[in-house]
Amino acid sequence: NVQVSSQTVAASCPSNIALIKYWGKYANQIPANPSISYTLNHCKTNTSIEFLANEPFCVQTFLAGNKEVNFSEKIHKYFKSIEPYLPWILQGKYIIKTENTFPHSSGIASSASGFGAIAKCLMQLDEVFSGKTEEDFRIKKESFLARLGSGSACRSLYNGLVVWGETSEVEGSSDLFAVQYPNYAVHPVFKNFNDWVLLIHEGQKSVSSTIGHGLMNTNPYAERRFQEAKENFVPMKEILKSGDLKKFITLVEHEALTLHAMMMMSEPAFILMKTGTMEVIHKIWKFREETGLPLFFTLDAGANVHVLFPNNGDEEKIKNFIETDLLQHTQKGSVVKDVMIF
Ligand code: PMV
Repeated sequence: NVQVSSQTVAASCPSNIALIKYWGKYANQIPANPSISYTLNHCKTNTSIEFLANEPFCVQTFLAGNKEVNFSEKIHKYFKSIEPYLPWILQGKYIIKTENTFPHSSGIASSASGFGAIAKCLMQLDEVFSGKTEEDFRIKKESFLARLGSGSACRSLYNGLVVWGETSEVEGSSDLFAVQYPNYAVHPVFKNFNDWVLLIHEGQKSVSSTIGHGLMNTNPYAERRFQEAKENFVPMKEILKSGDLKKFITLVEHEALTLHAMMMMSEPAFILMKTGTMEVIHKIWKFREETGLPLFFTLDAGANVHVLFPNNGDEEKIKNFIETDLLQHTQKGSVVKDVMIF
């Protein structure tokens, strides 16, 4: 029995973009295949939690500027679901304030940064109520808790390249939490990379990722896809070590298109790409063919295009091309410029 007192904690957590995609899961947020992502450096969620002890369990969520938002029910359910791991969690009232450093409904995974930030706040509270935990265990538990909010969120707790899901290719990898991909096994070219997100469509997605994951249960290609993602860790590991950008580009674009192909093969089928998405993809391919420069794309579960290119001296030409040729396919000329440096 812990004597719980009122507390305020705060944390910040970035979003991430997957290179080998997680799409399809089993009960309790167990991924059907391992995934690897880049953690972003600028796109973050900043969250503070005021915990009022000994009040009836209740969650209120606000955006910066004190606008009440309707995340409360989702968080309420989430807190109830993680009680087995944080026994004190239902013993009070929560006032949660949250803000993203990137535009809302931009399709940048705010659930990843959002649940990452909440998990960090919860582990700060846990330290107050249950005592200090050792650093390595704390970050694993943050990742574990974030996973139960949104699968891909578990990867946001670490910098750089991050793996979630058990694979014999990555030591210590687990379905329950993410681990950092070992820094020594990454070629320098992958340690300083740009991710510019072209906001092709800023509205609500027509199919949520929860429904999308669920449709993999009846997708006739699902097992083959899960197998392929597992197999893709073998070349990915070699590529990350050797710095072979050409192979990296082929693999990353293949993963993005496969994710969307799975959506088209679902029953019912759905398509999250828009005309602008296709136009940008074709222009990127043409640009690469004509210049040989390493500009490529990935997609998450939405219409926006993550345009990737290394910071290796060629970027001025690439940046010019994006500004003059690709921005016109966005809804409002909007691009979110992020970078992965580690
Ligand atoms: O974490 P969720 O349930 O929103 O799923 C995200 C899935 C993708 O973004 C499409 C892929 C990934 O691995 O992040």
